[in-house]
Amino acid sequence: MKGVILAGGLGTRLYPLTKITNKHLLPIFDRPMIYYPIEALVKAGIADIMIVTGGKKSGDFLSLLGNGSDFGLKHLNYTYQKGEGGIAEALGLCAHWAAGEEICVILGDNIIEKNITAAVRNFREQDGGAKIMLKEVHDPERFGVADLRGDKVIGIEEKPRNPSSNLAVIGIYMYDARVFQIIQELEPSDRGELEITDVNNWYIRDSSMTYEVLTGWWTDAGTFDSLRRAANLVAEGGANHGEKEQ
Ligand code: DAU
Repeated sequence: MKGVILAGGLGTRLYPLTKITNKHLLPIFDRPMIYYPIEALVKAGIADIMIVTGGKKSGDFLSLLGNGSDFGLKHLNYTYQKGEGGIAEALGLCAHWAAGEEICVILGDNIIEKNITAAVRNFREQDGGAKIMLKEVHDPERFGVADLRGDKVIGIEEKPRNPSSNLAVIGIYMYDARVFQIIQELEPSDRGELEITDVNNWYIRDSSMTYEVLTGWWTDAGTFDSLRRAANLVAEGGANHGEKEQ
């Protein structure tokens, strides 16, 4: 299984911080933001990783990360997204590299307290399809929100005005090889982006989507409030803990 970290986009919600650098290079407590999703994948046993970057400062990822030796890796892959065409567009750039393997995708601004080893293992054991991770939040209107019936997700709505639950779809997704064909057939949303929520709803309609509710905290870091929250959470107890460390 391969890992993809999406670290493109313009990060305009963090202006002026992101005028001179990429959002994912900003500090979260004692490390750059991008360190956390890399560590999340590595701790889940995924060592073949692609980083999708964009913007004028994308070269800084190479200077910072090199071949990933800080994470015990021998190699890292990089690709470049022109503009900000959406999370699914960024993922679509990895089609040739994924070469038919299953993938675990993590958004570059998502940070978790506990590792996802068990969820990755469960996905590997399921028969293809996809898996999303859900987390209860107090502000679901900021996220993709899952509509559950019994133990099934029956739909996801992106940033709904009237959320049907308080379960946010966090930025960690697992897909079989069909994901790249699905992305090719997507139409841009009203905000002009290829939406990952449309990809997830495709798998839900296909009845091949599973989900798990994340244990431990989760935060994004794309707004001033969440950036501060992420720094505080990491400073208080660190991120990506394994079972024995909890
Ligand atoms: O954090 C979880 C949420 O992330 C989900 O609940 C939503 O369903 C999902 O759409 C996404 O929402 P955001 O509005 O927070 O996404 P944002 O535009 O902030 O992008 C999140 C990351 O995705 C960003 O840190 C880098 C990557 N990205 C985003 C875009 C738009 C790219 O690599 N390329 C892009 O074009």
